[in-house]
Amino acid sequence: MPLVLEPADPEKKGVESLVEALENNKEWFDQMITKNSAVLLRGFDVDNAVNFNDVVEACDWEDIRYVGPAPRTHIHKRIWTANEGPLSEFIYYHHEMVLIKEFPKKVILFCEIPPPEGGETPFVPSFKVTEKMLKEFPEEVEEIEKRGLMYSFSAPTRNTTASMRGRGWEDAFATSDKQEAERRYDNVVFDS
Ligand SMILES: [Fe+2]
Repeated sequence: MPLVLEPADPEKKGVESLVEALENNKEWFDQMITKNSAVLLRGFDVDNAVNFNDVVEACDWEDIRYVGPAPRTHIHKRIWTANEGPLSEFIYYHHEMVLIKEFPKKVILFCEIPPPEGGETPFVPSFKVTEKMLKEFPEEVEEIEKRGLMYSFSAPTRNTTASMRGRGWEDAFATSDKQEAERRYDNVVFDS
C-alpha cells in the first residue's frame, strides 16, 4: 500500500496519455482506490496546477467546497493549496471535513515542488485503526459508540497563515454576521 501506477512505456508519460488512460478506465481506477486505500501515480509529466486540474477532471469525481480550518489559496479551477500554515506545525491524522454532512469520498493530492526535506503525506486507512482500537481498547470503543464524540476548536475571525488552523470563520461561511455564520454552520455540520 499504496498501489503505485507508473507509465508502462516512456512514450506514454505525458499528461494527455494519463488523462486518456484515466478516462478510459474510470471504474477500474475507482476500484483500485477502494481496494488499496490509496493509489500513487508516479513518473508522469504532471508538473503544474493546469496539468493537475486536467487529471482531477479526468477522474470525474464530485467537486465539494472545502469547509474547514485550513487556510488555503485558490490556484486554478479545482486546484487549491492544501494548507498555508507554518511548516513548523504538524498536521495530525484526520478525516477530511469529518464534521461536515457533505464530506468528500476521495482526496487527491499533488506536489509541484518537492521540499528539500520532509514533506511526505503519510496516511492511515481508518478501518485498520478501528480494528486495532477494537482489539486494544474494546471498552473505550464501546463507550465512544454509546456516548458519541464532541469536537471543538476556535476559528479566527479573518484568514491568517500564522496557524495551520488559520481559516477565518468570515471566509469559511462567507459572511461577517455572527448569527448568519451560526445558521450556516448548523446547516453544514452533523448534529452539534
Ligand atoms: Fe485535511
